Amino acid sequence: MNILILGSGGREHALAWAVLQNPKCDELTCAPGNAGMALIAKCVDMDIMDGAAISAYCLENKVDFVIVGPEAPLAAGVADDLRSAGVLTFGPSKAAAMLEASKSFTKEICDACNAPTAAYGRFTAPEPAKAYIREQGAPIVVKADGLAAGKGVIVAMNEGEALAAIDDMFDGNFGEAGAAVVIEEFMEGEEASFFVLSDGKTVLPMGTAQDHKRVGEGDTGPNTGGMGAYSPAPVMTPQVVQKTLDEIVQPTVDEMARRGTPFQGVLFVGLMIKYGQPRLVEYNVRFGDPECQTLMMRLGAQALDVMLACAQGRLDQTRLNWADDHALSVVIAADGYPGSYDKGTEIKGLDGVFPTSSLFVFHAGTRQEGDKTLAVGGRVLNVTARGATLRQACDAAYGAVEKIDWPEGFYRKDIGWRAL
Ligand code: AMP
Ligand code: GLY
Repeated sequence: MNILILGSGGREHALAWAVLQNPKCDELTCAPGNAGMALIAKCVDMDIMDGAAISAYCLENKVDFVIVGPEAPLAAGVADDLRSAGVLTFGPSKAAAMLEASKSFTKEICDACNAPTAAYGRFTAPEPAKAYIREQGAPIVVKADGLAAGKGVIVAMNEGEALAAIDDMFDGNFGEAGAAVVIEEFMEGEEASFFVLSDGKTVLPMGTAQDHKRVGEGDTGPNTGGMGAYSPAPVMTPQVVQKTLDEIVQPTVDEMARRGTPFQGVLFVGLMIKYGQPRLVEYNVRFGDPECQTLMMRLGAQALDVMLACAQGRLDQTRLNWADDHALSVVIAADGYPGSYDKGTEIKGLDGVFPTSSLFVFHAGTRQEGDKTLAVGGRVLNVTARGATLRQACDAAYGAVEKIDWPEGFYRKDIGWRAL
């Protein structure tokens, strides 16, 4: 098959790495890709938000299957454009991508199918929102309704903070995303991510993971896109997984189908678990980054088979073979991230990490210039390893991190601490 992956992050590098292990893949192209992806696949410079241009490219180049990595093109309807052009595509329609693109849409779906989640209110003006906050009290969670690149959530520990967040959102500091605000009950517990494939009808669990969102050790400091992850998540016991499928995931998939907007792709189920009871924090309609890196390392070649089955509506005939293993990924980011950081510094020592099926450095914000690999993003590398135990995976990943010579980068030294 001739396969195209859309995106340029560590997630997409990991997808490319797994897809290439499958003999069904004859040719792999990535758009736009990064320096790491260019080492294993052909990269073409295309605007991944332009569904018409990508469809034209696929027809011209006889692409058999497209995997859409990030949420933005999905929310913009790129998967719809591709399917209209007759291109087999992994990823939800614009209508189904609402599960990530609108927090209030997801709340409405949860209400319709009785899925356990935080109590909430939705507001389009500041005064009623503030009155609701005063009535409910803190801690409380204020969320921009729309897509805000992971920055639209304020977990307010006191009322003042929550009220300030309302002003901030209605002042337009979150753009269109903040035109409506969802205010939620603060949920206590342990967070975990659960990844399931849905072909619109059948649900196939793909794995669990936990990421570290905060920039600093001990889970402190500002939120980031994720500084590291590990899979599986110990809190996701078989009982919690089954409860999540029965009470949250399958009802959601059924409700989406009932509305005529079936969900096809990977559903990233963000959960809060307390006393063995899962509650939904949020849905994303794509793989997590860096969670995906750990899932791909554990799944290898099977990843392509299940994504294909998902796109073709064959999940009822599909199984995954899970090894009893663990994977862990350490993000190396540019100094200053998630604030401002320099671009264009050189990364050395990448050759010192010998790539195997259990150890790989997935690139995110990198660019190749001649024989130099340059850092051009906030999150730059994902050093990912697999082992029989989480401790082994962790030691292997950090062993490789130490071989990378990039003085302008930093990483957290405690990825996995909660599980270890
Ligand atoms: P979200 O983008 O909705 O995942 O929110 C980002 C982060 O905010 C989550 O990963 C949680 O750590 C936290 N969060 C979101 N909603 C809640 C909630 N209702 N209660 C407690 N924490 C929350
Ligand atoms: N690592 C969290 C996310 O991808 O949204």
